[in-house]
Amino acid sequence: MHKRLIYLFPILIHKEEQKFKNMNLLVTGGAGFIGSNFILYWLKRYPEDKIVNLDKLTYAGNIENLKDVEDNKNYKFVKGDICDGELIDDLMKNENIDVVVHFAAESHVDRSILDPAPFIKTNIIGTYTLLEAALKNKIKRFHHVSTDEVFGSLALNSKEKFNENTPYAPRSPYSASKASADHLVRAYYYTYNLPVTISNCSNNFGPYQFPEKLIPLAITNILEGKKVPIYGDGLYVRDWLFVEDHCTAIDLIIHKGKIGETYLIGGMTEDISNINVVRKILKIMGKGEEWIEFVKDRPGHDRKYRIDWSKINKELGWYPKHDFDSALKFTVDWYTKNQDWWKKIKTGEYLDYYKRQYGKK
Ligand code: NAD
Ligand code: DAU
Repeated sequence: MHKRLIYLFPILIHKEEQKFKNMNLLVTGGAGFIGSNFILYWLKRYPEDKIVNLDKLTYAGNIENLKDVEDNKNYKFVKGDICDGELIDDLMKNENIDVVVHFAAESHVDRSILDPAPFIKTNIIGTYTLLEAALKNKIKRFHHVSTDEVFGSLALNSKEKFNENTPYAPRSPYSASKASADHLVRAYYYTYNLPVTISNCSNNFGPYQFPEKLIPLAITNILEGKKVPIYGDGLYVRDWLFVEDHCTAIDLIIHKGKIGETYLIGGMTEDISNINVVRKILKIMGKGEEWIEFVKDRPGHDRKYRIDWSKINKELGWYPKHDFDSALKFTVDWYTKNQDWWKKIKTGEYLDYYKRQYGKK
């Protein structure tokens, strides 16, 4: 190496490490399931960073998830909509935001089938509004959190896995709206050089998940003495990931990921069907098969998702650290111990939704 370069090398490395030290993050949707787990994780791991959490507090947002950090001087909550360009622009400017971590979305497939409008608005227009503000405010990194559902469905007997080159083929209003958002994020990278990264993750589970999704719905229904509704034949397959493993993956992407790149994130369960997931929950809770109730199938129900996460493993060293059975047991225990948290949710709007979706309260 040239003498002068040898001299400069440690300084260059030092500068590279400094780039993302003492960051100011704007987290959107931080009062939701993954967003709140992410904020709790991040402030513990990087106590010097500052987080502004922008959340509209829709039915899915719950500020109680963040009570452990509400007095933290490096955490601030702002109630607002990602479709409000003026608000976002002001926040990015006044809070000197370096990095945006974009979780905010309408996230439940069944609700997107009942009423697609809020999905189009938040997931597409909201993402576009954030991208525009990020460009204007010269944001250093825009990390977009997306889903494996954009790739459509695998056949039940397929050995294939989704990877970063799998063509998009969304089949529900939810996944179509997330696919649109992904395309916009990529377009802002190629067209305007906005420094973006994207992750597409499989089904998360863990504490603070809204009890409309299969795992918390099953656990809380059983705790309430209600049966667990299983769509169709129950032989649908998801690639389950404990939420903390999703947070560590996003952490690595923000610190070490390459601008413009997409990373797929998934779990380690080998083709476990929904009915077998519910059977595991029943076993942990000491209940029998009579707690299962087969109900009408979801229209356009994707048969199977499976993720090839070798890119993030090879390039950033990530792998899911939690095995499914112990993380599921931990999750059952969490919902059993935190009944106040979900009992407040399973009232009012939730019961109306439950009736529309399942035909009974
Ligand atoms: P969630 O429904 O639990 O939380 C969404 C949060 O976004 C809520 O706090 C809600 O109040 C907020 N929000 C909704 N509309 C908003 C708006 N217009 N402005 C500001 N805030 C708004 O969702 P989640 O399960 O935590 O998912 C978070 C992200 O991760 C979503 O983008 C989702 O598509 C993606 N994702 C989820 C999973 C999963 O298994 N849950 C898997 C892969 C990807
Ligand atoms: O794959 C990632 C996606 O995972 C995320 O992008 C979504 O935001 C998240 O909601 C989740 O979508 P799914 O539709 O896969 O999750 P859900 O928990 O709703 O359903 C999981 C499986 O269980 C699916 O095959 C449908 C089935 N199911 C679900 C419910 C709510 C039932 O059989 N009965 C039910 O009552």
